[in-house]
Formats: sequence, C-alpha cells, structure tokens
Amino acid sequence: MTRISVVTGANQGLGFALAAGLAHRADPTDVVYLTGRDGGRVADAAARVDHPSVRARALDVGDGHAVAAFADDLRDRHGGVDVVFSNAAARLTPGTPWNDQIVPFVATNNLGTTRVLRALTPLLRPGGAFLVVASSFGTPHHLPPHLHGHFDTRDLDGVDAAVLAWRDAVLDGTAPALGWPDWINIPSKVGQVAAVRAVAARRRDADTAAGTLIAAVCPGLVDTDASRPWFADMSGAAPPARAAGPLLDLALGARRVEHYGELVRSGRVVRWS
Ligand SMILES: NC(=O)c1ccc[n+]([C@@H]2O[C@H](COP(=O)([O-])OP(=O)(O)OC[C@H]3O[C@@H](n4cnc5c(N)ncnc54)[C@H](OP(=O)(O)O)[C@@H]3O)[C@@H](O)[C@H]2O)c1
Repeated sequence: MTRISVVTGANQGLGFALAAGLAHRADPTDVVYLTGRDGGRVADAAARVDHPSVRARALDVGDGHAVAAFADDLRDRHGGVDVVFSNAAARLTPGTPWNDQIVPFVATNNLGTTRVLRALTPLLRPGGAFLVVASSFGTPHHLPPHLHGHFDTRDLDGVDAAVLAWRDAVLDGTAPALGWPDWINIPSKVGQVAAVRAVAARRRDADTAAGTLIAAVCPGLVDTDASRPWFADMSGAAPPARAAGPLLDLALGARRVEHYGELVRSGRVVRWS
C-alpha cells in the first residue's frame, strides 16, 4: 500500500532530515509531503532531497484555513495519512525579552501543534504514526510541584487553555511569582506532550488494537540554527540526519504498546509522572 507521510516545518533542521529520511525509506509509489510556512523555501528543500516521493507543500501551522484545506486534500487524494511528524517550531532568540517572542512562539509550537493534531489524527490510517517532536523538557518534572497538574487535562481545548493561561502570565509579568520557569521553551514543551496525552487518552483502545501510534518524541540535542545560539558547547549535538534516525525507526518500525501516548526518547519512555 502506498504510504503517505507529512512533516511540518521540514524546509530545514530536524524536519528536513525527517522528510529526507522518509523519502530514502520510501517505496516508489509512496508520497512524502515536505511542508513549511514559505513556498519558496519548501520548494528549495524538496529539490535538495531530490527524490521522486517528495512533494513540496506550503503549510503554515498557524493558519487554520490552510491546515484544514491540507487535511481535505489528504482525504480527497489519498483517503488518509500514514505518518505525521508535527515538527514545526518558531525559534527563540537569546537576549530578546520573552514578551516580544512568546505570542508567535506559542501560536506555532503549541496552538499549531494542537491544530495539526485536531486536523490530521482523524485521517490516520490503521498502523500509522503521529509523532509530535517535543523534547526531554516536556514533562512536569521541569516545573515546580504546585504546577505539575497545570497541563493535566483530558482534551485539546483544555490544553490550549492551560497554555494560554501560562502565556498570559508571561505577558502580564506574573509568571515568575507564579513559579513558571524562566525559559519559555520548558512550559511550551510540557504543553506539547500534554496535547499528545489528551488525544491519546481518547483513542488508546482503538489505536493500540490497530497498531497505530500517537506519541511525543525527544530528539536529543540537535545541531541546527535554532539550537546553536543557546549552547556554548555543541560537541554533544547530533547532526539532524543522525537525530532523525530513532524518530524514523519509531514511526516506521514495530509497535510497542508502552510507547502509546508517551514521550519517547531513543525507544525509551520518559515518564510523565
Ligand atoms: N535542535 C534541537 O536541539 C532540538 C532539541 C529538542 C527538540 N527540538 C525540537 O525539534 C523541532 C525542530 O527543531 P529545529 O532545531 O530543527 O528547528 P529549526 O531549524 O528552527 O526548524 C524549524 C522549522 O519549523 C518551521 N516553521 C516555523 N514556523 C512555522 C509555521 N508557522 N508553520 C510551519 N513551519 C514553521 C521553520 O520554517 P522557516 O525556515 O520558514 O522558519 C523550520 O523549517 C522543534 O520542535 C524543536 O523544539 C529541537
């Protein structure tokens, strides 16, 4: 059967390596949608992969109409989707106040993630995989104890509301007094994993029976333009192609029920609590 794959934020960095890796593991009739917010950058990236399975597609995860139209297209053309990597992320710039960065950051990394989850998980075919690229910061252990339950909700609207409450606390200056960590990447990543858990909680029985996987993944430190400004020592960072390997193995390999709905790093579950 033709395998249909989608990677968001795939014109550079880890997303590009995921799309290229899917293409290199594809059969001749498979399709890999290499997507990103800018049509020109997406077309250039697809040309760099230079593989017949790759289709360039502009997709801004912050644009609800565009995401809905893409989902309709996948349904009409292919009847569904088999592999999705929700990877798109806005970058953070050191030295720029969080207030100037958090609105687009949350709009892409959190609301964009829940938008893509809402639109594409209903299209996931049996045996498929929907993986949200999060990080090892994506568990409540990285928050103070009184905030551990903040993102524990059973549906995506609840996760969005919890994320927006944190974002608004950053914007109105109350976040430090409330105990939120200074680095805004941490609550954002916990929110991403919470979104995966909320979707997985509703689909667990049917998905595990069908061999379908929904999970968050942690790629480890990856050497990209996004991470480089934040770490003085990048000697432990993996090149994107190497970091993509375990993520591709998880998406395309044999299913392990313990991965379902969890944050997975190199095949091992990073416990939520
Ligand atoms: N790098 C690391 O060490 C590391 C570690 C752990 C987790 N991660 C996670 O891995 C993922 C990829 O990180 P990366 O380092 O590869 O970042 P990156 O190089 O900045 O790539 C991010 C990609 O997302 C795209 N993007 C930004 N806004 C978008 C939008 N609204 N709609 C669609 N695409 C959009 C960017 O497109 P443009 O080129 O147009 O900006 C780019 O292609 C992120 O979720 C990140 O948090 C990274």
